[in-house]
Amino acid sequence: MSSGLEDVVAAETVLSDVDGKNGRLIVRGVSLDELVKSSRYEDVLELLFDGFLDMPANMRAALGAARVEVFHHLQAVDADLLALSPVDGLRALLARLPDGDDTDAALKLVAGPGVFTAGLLRLRAGEALVPPNAALSHAEDILTMLHGTAPVAQQVAALDRYLVTVADHGLNASTFVARVVASTQSGLTSSVVAALGALKGPLHGGAPGPVLDMLDGVGTPDNATAWLDDALARGERLMGFGHRVYRVRDPRADALKGAVRLLAVSGAIDPARLALAEGIEAAALDLLKRKKPDRALDTNVEFYTALLLEALGFPREAFTCVFAMGRVGGWIAHAREQAIGGRLIRPQSVYVGPVGRVAA
Ligand code: ACO
Repeated sequence: MSSGLEDVVAAETVLSDVDGKNGRLIVRGVSLDELVKSSRYEDVLELLFDGFLDMPANMRAALGAARVEVFHHLQAVDADLLALSPVDGLRALLARLPDGDDTDAALKLVAGPGVFTAGLLRLRAGEALVPPNAALSHAEDILTMLHGTAPVAQQVAALDRYLVTVADHGLNASTFVARVVASTQSGLTSSVVAALGALKGPLHGGAPGPVLDMLDGVGTPDNATAWLDDALARGERLMGFGHRVYRVRDPRADALKGAVRLLAVSGAIDPARLALAEGIEAAALDLLKRKKPDRALDTNVEFYTALLLEALGFPREAFTCVFAMGRVGGWIAHAREQAIGGRLIRPQSVYVGPVGRVAA
């Protein structure tokens, strides 16, 4: 049931604009198409933080130093923490970072998801931790900490493009959560931990893992239509399709499809896997058009995210953690924007319950 309140404006922002009608994403005046061509993740952090935090003289070096600083928190990982899912483990480790509202607090929070996720995954696999290297870019260091070997340039470029692509996206559910917490003048760690809780649900950032389950379920491209048709008949949603704001194709889907194709050229993706994904995408779009004619359902960011992160060697249960590695930049910028210029966010509910009852 619709509450009818979906279009209420909850915040003004200079950070990003999601144009759902035309399928465009603008980050501080720069379109996503431009951003992925010319920027690395560290550049996007500078773009997002400008005016909201004191800018370090060298973002890449400062972020590298922050990775080194937060690494020791992995010593706190015990059997209970390791038994959690990677995203719950990440949430627990991020919660150890001191709350604050300055650049130091912000950079530790940006560093945390990469360092903690790589560390948790290695510990879960019974492997020794690989310490961060402050001299590397964020993307290259994450892949090195994860695999213990130096990645090739195409892999670094692909992860970097992913982090840039997902860094900010208007007032999505997790960013809204970050702003609500910041509006109480709580610190950045509280905002980020709360936002991660919102991100992990399957209707938000938890979709790409299930996208791969769908690929596995379909098996071969010629089985796609029958498999997807059955799923829709069971009332299931097709993961990686549909969006609350976009009524056309999510521009991030093509930004990531480009990165996936680059990886394919360099041999880092099995061409059969890519062909399967493209076959499923085509079949899903056709079915959704026919079965849900009054809805505009198209490919969203999560579909090619799944393929990209799989090819980079992240296990599917950690995909939401990788999303957080990029989106944390947006959460922090929004939290600062809200804390500096905003008021307490306190929406009104509409009471629809009974009146005049007598207490038992
Ligand atoms: N597969 C099948 N049907 C769908 C899908 C889908 N992926 N998405 C929406 N619909 C249908 C719903 O069943 C509903 O139909 P009904 O009214 O007949 O019951 C209708 O379309 C709702 O459409 P919207 O209002 O456009 O969707 P809503 O805003 O409620 O949901 C959401 C958006 C949650 C993303 C949805 O499209 C979905 O569940 N997609 C699959 C999960 C997914 O890919 N999540 C990642 C989103 S991107 C991100 O958060 C980073």
